[in-house]
Amino acid sequence: MLFGSRRLIGIDIGSRFIKIADLEVSKKNKKLNHFIVIPTPEGVFSGSDIQNVEPLAIAIRAGLHTEKIKNKNVSLGLQGASVIVKKINMPKIDKKMLDQQIRWEAEQYIPYDMSQISLSYHVNESSALSDSSDVLIVAAQKTMIEQLNQLAHSAGLKVGALDLSSFALANAFESAYGKLLGQGIMLVHVGALVTHVVIIANGEIVYVRDIGIGGHHATSEIGKNMGLSTQEAEVLKIAASRGDEVPEDIFSSIDLFNTSLAEEIKNSRDYFFGSQDDSVQLNQVYISGGSAKLIGLTDKISAAIEVPVAFFNVLGNVSVLPKNQLISMDELMSISPIAIGLALRERGD
Ligand SMILES: Nc1ncnc2c1ncn2[C@@H]1O[C@H](COP(=O)(O)OP(=O)(O)OP(=O)(O)O)[C@@H](O)[C@H]1O
Ligand SMILES: [Mg+2]
Repeated sequence: MLFGSRRLIGIDIGSRFIKIADLEVSKKNKKLNHFIVIPTPEGVFSGSDIQNVEPLAIAIRAGLHTEKIKNKNVSLGLQGASVIVKKINMPKIDKKMLDQQIRWEAEQYIPYDMSQISLSYHVNESSALSDSSDVLIVAAQKTMIEQLNQLAHSAGLKVGALDLSSFALANAFESAYGKLLGQGIMLVHVGALVTHVVIIANGEIVYVRDIGIGGHHATSEIGKNMGLSTQEAEVLKIAASRGDEVPEDIFSSIDLFNTSLAEEIKNSRDYFFGSQDDSVQLNQVYISGGSAKLIGLTDKISAAIEVPVAFFNVLGNVSVLPKNQLISMDELMSISPIAIGLALRERGD
């Protein structure tokens, strides 16, 4: 039986929508058997952090039940203000010593009590030729991991893998586009409250950052400037992005939002590429997330950093079963990359 294998269901828990991907990967192809989008229940999130797991567990369990998904092994994403990612450079050492050394190194850089922290890391393989390696250390509060385990338990599921949402995004990218050697790629995934920025140089993740800005802030800006409720502003924002006729006033609010997000993305680009030698240039930005289609956003980013921006097509080499086409392929392409990246992980990875 397939779910007796190492397959995992990818669950991307956003502040606005929960996205669930049931992906079947074989040597020949990838098949998206199910893709579920569930509105995140009220009161689950406090800012970008989960505060109440019970309603979340009920919603996820109901979604899986409706779609008759039997596989109980899931892969969950870590994101939010309390996850810290630091890049360090450390001497090459034996794999066995690495865990211990990383903990020691992390103590120097992570401003938390280490007994409360769970660490994972990603070693940049392209530094193979030198005698030191770049390592991305991910530090998450143990309480956050316990909370995700609690969530899985309440929903009758088992956590097979936990991954940083940004790593899942990069994983989905490599699976769709391959390892792009010699190129500098920036992934920008714009959700409701958070924007993930990932830089991949020479096929390796070299930089990740979560910016605390997302489409919800564009909605708030519209609401504030036009005296509208959040719901009214949200409807208008989406109508504008679809090219429908809307009051002219809305565009200045959206432009303000686009400008501030583009500025933050430019800062990330400058921070990373300003500190590198010229061996890799930034060639291309790929954008995704529910807010990727916000009117004017791609043009604003591309103008700010003078690099072309394209929509990240995670579905290029994935066959999508017709029953998942309740939402448009365009929308599916925007919102699915993190859930798909999580589903690409295997149990015990
Ligand atoms: N067509 C559209 N044009 C512009 N914005 C859109 C469109 N469709 C959805 N959005 C916005 O996308 C956001 C939801 O996207 P997504 O599902 O990626 O967020 P999330 O994962 O729940 O949030 P986060 O991860 O930031 O907590 C909302 O802010 C919504 O307004
Ligand atoms: Mg999200």
